Amino acid sequence: MSQVEIELAKTAGFCFGVRRAVKMAGEAARQYGGCACLGPLIHNNDVVRRLEEQGVRTVKSVSQLVPGEPVIIRSHGVGPEVYRQIQALGCPVIDATCPEVARIHALVEEKSRQGRAIVVIGQRGHPEIEALAGWCDGCTVLENPEETEKWLREHPETAEIPLTVVSQTTGEQKNFENSVKLIKKQCTNGEIFDTICGTTSSRQREAREIASRSDVMIVIGGRHSANTAKLAQVCAGECDRVLLIENARELDPAELAGAKTVGVTAGASTPEWIIKEVNRKMCDENKTVETVEENNAAEAVNETVETPAEPAAETKTEATEAEASFEELLERSIKTLHTGEKVRGVIASITPTEISVDLGTKQSGYIPLSEFTDEPGVNVADIIKAGDEIEAYVMRVNDVEGTVMLSKKRLDSVKNWDSIVDARASHAVVEGTVVEENKGGVVVNVKGVRVFVPASQSGLPKDAPMTELLKRKVKLMIREVNQPRKRVVGSIRDVTVSERRAKAEATWNEIEVGKRYHGVVKSLTSYGAFVDIGGVDGMVHVSELSWKRIHQPSEVLSVGDEIDVYVISFDKETKKISLGYKDPNENPWVKFTSTYSVGSVASVRIVKLMTFGAFAEIVPGVDGLIHISQIADRRIGKPEDVLSEGQIVDAKITNIDNENKKVSLSIRALSEHPAPAPEPKAVKPVEDEDDGPVVVYDTENPPAPEDLPEE
Ligand code: F3S
Repeated sequence: MSQVEIELAKTAGFCFGVRRAVKMAGEAARQYGGCACLGPLIHNNDVVRRLEEQGVRTVKSVSQLVPGEPVIIRSHGVGPEVYRQIQALGCPVIDATCPEVARIHALVEEKSRQGRAIVVIGQRGHPEIEALAGWCDGCTVLENPEETEKWLREHPETAEIPLTVVSQTTGEQKNFENSVKLIKKQCTNGEIFDTICGTTSSRQREAREIASRSDVMIVIGGRHSANTAKLAQVCAGECDRVLLIENARELDPAELAGAKTVGVTAGASTPEWIIKEVNRKMCDENKTVETVEENNAAEAVNETVETPAEPAAETKTEATEAEASFEELLERSIKTLHTGEKVRGVIASITPTEISVDLGTKQSGYIPLSEFTDEPGVNVADIIKAGDEIEAYVMRVNDVEGTVMLSKKRLDSVKNWDSIVDARASHAVVEGTVVEENKGGVVVNVKGVRVFVPASQSGLPKDAPMTELLKRKVKLMIREVNQPRKRVVGSIRDVTVSERRAKAEATWNEIEVGKRYHGVVKSLTSYGAFVDIGGVDGMVHVSELSWKRIHQPSEVLSVGDEIDVYVISFDKETKKISLGYKDPNENPWVKFTSTYSVGSVASVRIVKLMTFGAFAEIVPGVDGLIHISQIADRRIGKPEDVLSEGQIVDAKITNIDNENKKVSLSIRALSEHPAPAPEPKAVKPVEDEDDGPVVVYDTENPPAPEDLPEE
């Protein structure tokens, strides 16, 4: 059993522009009982001959037209002058200019009107280029990078002048890119438009890939077709044995000898039935059976053909098909599209405004970016690329313009509807992006489905502006699905609540005294701060916030601060947690006692003057009291006779009360002849230690009660 693997390019055969033109010509011939075509409709003799049989006669120029005779403008288009001449003859026009080509005409016309010089990278004398030249005030045609380089050298003025560069639709990508590189180097005022038709570049790319893995590469197409010639050239770069044939008759089986893999592609002017004939001939020669793909030969990819025991039924179908009329075959190869239909195509190109899709139909498919996705900030090029397959809904078919508007997001929405219904049933959390704000709430796009989230379910505080949710990715739960009205209601809050509940449970299960948490300050009161430590709030009392004296928690924290706290105590029944914030390692009393002892001399700062003495800071957070009797070696009327606030003085530590965390200081003790100490007075604590820094006084010479500061 002999076995040859045949790989047929998906992009082989008619492009939509050619398919559209052939269909329009057939219809015109039927409608008018014959018509003329300005130049061969396509570069394929078989098709042109069959069209002639139907009454489509080919004329070389306007001068050969019969006045009043209907005229077909082929997909290459013509210049405005030709339209005028045809009109003057009173001939009805059937305009089959490819929409892609027409777009370039409009572009060069506008740029030329703006005073820009037009440069076309393409084949001189090609009908498309000749037509294009008519739409601008003269243009320079450059065929390749070599010509471009020479032209730039000879025209140094191009460095300054405004230049617009376009390409022939069937140009080779590399050729265009290399020419553009040279232009960009020299021209400071150049704008470049890559107008290579997406179907051409994807056809060439696929042909190159298939050729690289084939022993023989067959390129089917008209010999006069620039498009086919380019295709053969591209394949020759990858495969040593490239056969360029116009039809099955030209295929010499001997040329396939020894080949295990044969790749097949075809130019844009090659109809499907010719591709099928070639395919069938190869299968017959190999005594193999062909797998027939209904209506679309291009789908016969990676086909392995084997010798059958009996002729297969499909072979008979093929034979019947071969007998079918040209018109029938053409009709069969042209898919009719209807609004609302789901279609599959190949991405031909991506521009900043739309995605061009080759649907294998006579129309050019396009997806406006707004119909690709509702996801804000999405860069389409990160998701798809030319050559990828894509599915979409047909939104509008415009036969006059030869375009089909498609929508991917609508198809996504239908596809994902079921997953939304499931999410509601299973209370699953889904993700989406907030795309719209309206009166009652926000709309979230969940995989293409619009889910309304009422303001009360947005998770935002009452009266907070919904705007802050816009463009944000959010998690939500589906609350309500109204299938007939296609209405879905969701809740962001439900997710927050259930997440918080789960977190709280975990926190209560593992909480223990001393455990540290990283939490978020949720609110502040006069007596402390509430901190979320994972689904539950604990309270940090104001006294646990700082080692320094503070009056309000806001002196240390703000709502939203992320802080580290530790558990001082908790009660699972009352659900109360007491937290500590101030770092035990930073305890100023510990710092003080590890540095100083009774008898040490410290440099202290006077912080407050009272009638009975002066408070002085020894280290931050620890103050000592210098009793009035200990300020000088003589009797003084009041402390401010000697000291002032902020003053730095040396003082001796005369007593440390560890239990009450109080320190007594004396300046007098440092003088050579201290005066006798005054009589001791009654003792009274100045301030509770919990309420601020350690405030101390002289236990040996305490102030009179009436002299003590008010609490
Ligand atoms: Fe048009 Fe592209 Fe074909 S420009 S004629 S669709 S190759």
